[in-house]
Amino acid sequence: MTSRRRFIQSSALAAASALARRAFPHTMARAAAPLVPNLDPNSLARFVDPLPLPVPARPVGMHADPARHGEQVRHYRVAMRAISSKLHRDLPPTGLWSYGGSVPGVMFDTRSGEALSVEWANELPTKHFLPIDHTLHGAEKESPEVRAVVHLHGGKTPPESDGYPEDWYVPGQSRTYHYPNSQDPALLWYHDHAMGINRLNIYAGLFGLHVIRDKVEDELHLPSGKYEVPLVLFDRDVRRDGQLGYPVSADPEHPWVPEFFGEIQLVNGKIFPYLEVEPRKYRFRVLNAANGRFYRLSLSEGAEIHQIGTDQGLLPAPVRLTNLQLAPGERADIVVDFANHRGAKVLLQSDSFVLMQFKVGAARVSDPSALPASLRAVPRILESSAVQTRRLTLDELLNSVAESTGMLLNNTPWHMPITERPVLGTTEIWELVNLTDDVHPIHLHMVKFQILDRRRFDAFQYATAQTLRFVGPAVAAEANEMGWKDTARANPKTVTRIIVPFVGYSGRYVWHCHILEHEDNEMMRPYEILPAASG
Ligand code: C2O
Ligand code: CU
Ligand code: CU
Repeated sequence: MTSRRRFIQSSALAAASALARRAFPHTMARAAAPLVPNLDPNSLARFVDPLPLPVPARPVGMHADPARHGEQVRHYRVAMRAISSKLHRDLPPTGLWSYGGSVPGVMFDTRSGEALSVEWANELPTKHFLPIDHTLHGAEKESPEVRAVVHLHGGKTPPESDGYPEDWYVPGQSRTYHYPNSQDPALLWYHDHAMGINRLNIYAGLFGLHVIRDKVEDELHLPSGKYEVPLVLFDRDVRRDGQLGYPVSADPEHPWVPEFFGEIQLVNGKIFPYLEVEPRKYRFRVLNAANGRFYRLSLSEGAEIHQIGTDQGLLPAPVRLTNLQLAPGERADIVVDFANHRGAKVLLQSDSFVLMQFKVGAARVSDPSALPASLRAVPRILESSAVQTRRLTLDELLNSVAESTGMLLNNTPWHMPITERPVLGTTEIWELVNLTDDVHPIHLHMVKFQILDRRRFDAFQYATAQTLRFVGPAVAAEANEMGWKDTARANPKTVTRIIVPFVGYSGRYVWHCHILEHEDNEMMRPYEILPAASG
């Protein structure tokens, strides 16, 4: 029962925890109590730290790109290193792992079509500080404790540079990856992808932003410069000694937990930060970098969110929202106009959690930026263009007392031979048949896709007869999902259909659930894009 007690330190937490339990019924019962108790977020003063902005990545020179016939491209070197960082004014520094010295890591600010290369150097310690589960595939006792490999999420990246989960390397080694950046402007993010310990490496702090821009987007005159602010959201358990905690199950041989929800909410690496804003429009580039938490964002004071972009860039038109849902891995590009909130303090909230505060200046300012009514054409892909439809199940494994012991894609563990082999240049429909009680954010590497629709089905009928009997109409993707996506929420007992043009590179990639605890425990599969038949 001690494990439950930490979730009822405040009514707000209790409500959030009850919500979480409803969404993930098997989660809370298994966690064992942490050795050092966790910090109560209500014990911390609010809005005493300014919101930190990501540190820009700086090129170290030029590099001949072998994939581009030796063309000179901008070259960076980013070291993964243990650092300590103040998460809050009144806390001692917290040990974290970082890309380039901060969490989130250094931010790449790039132009579409301008290739770059990065040497990712693993300079981490050789011991991990979070609980490894050696029974998970890829994290066996024989493999080194600290392994890392970098993936650019949302990147149209050749397979050699995509960060295949088994391509990890140990401290003292580095890899140089090439990013062609030939894709539409969007907010991408890079993060660790090491097999079996990915949830722990990202939790430790191994993630950062990579933004791509172009001229067409510049000409929209969206708020820019200091009026464009990235907001990277994540949650953690912080112990009373200021160090990160991560829950373990009651079984010391198998410490994996099915999902993680932290009590401490961070924005750009700070707890309860504030940002001084002018009474005008701002563009916020929002990333859900949490292991398992879904955010449902809203603003106080009646301030409105206008979503202008999703994972893979701009929407056709802004979508006005009173709340914005973001699953792990998803991004939202939003515009907020503070003009009618002069002198106010506007809170960014997620359900009952307060994330941060905007202190709006009192003096009137001029605002030359625009929120255009039309942003970018996103032609819908015709279903008739698909050459193949694949039915893929999302499955949960339960033990005898109905606790989750893992999740699978299409009932197939990671190590089984590849079953999905789309041909480069063709379009497919993937029907994600979610047999579980959880929402799973499903992500495909290398490609971008569109969400066709979602339709509930009779799970009992499916379990007994393997036939799909729908129990409701097909519901179109939400208005703010009508852009290009790379991560889609697959709702429980629902078929979510996505349509995917396999454009880019042939080779071996992965697709997976972006709840990192699921991904690390078999909810990930390789897939291979076959070269287009020649002639
Ligand atoms: Cu954020 Cu495999 O990806
Ligand atoms: Cu990815
Ligand atoms: Cu999942």
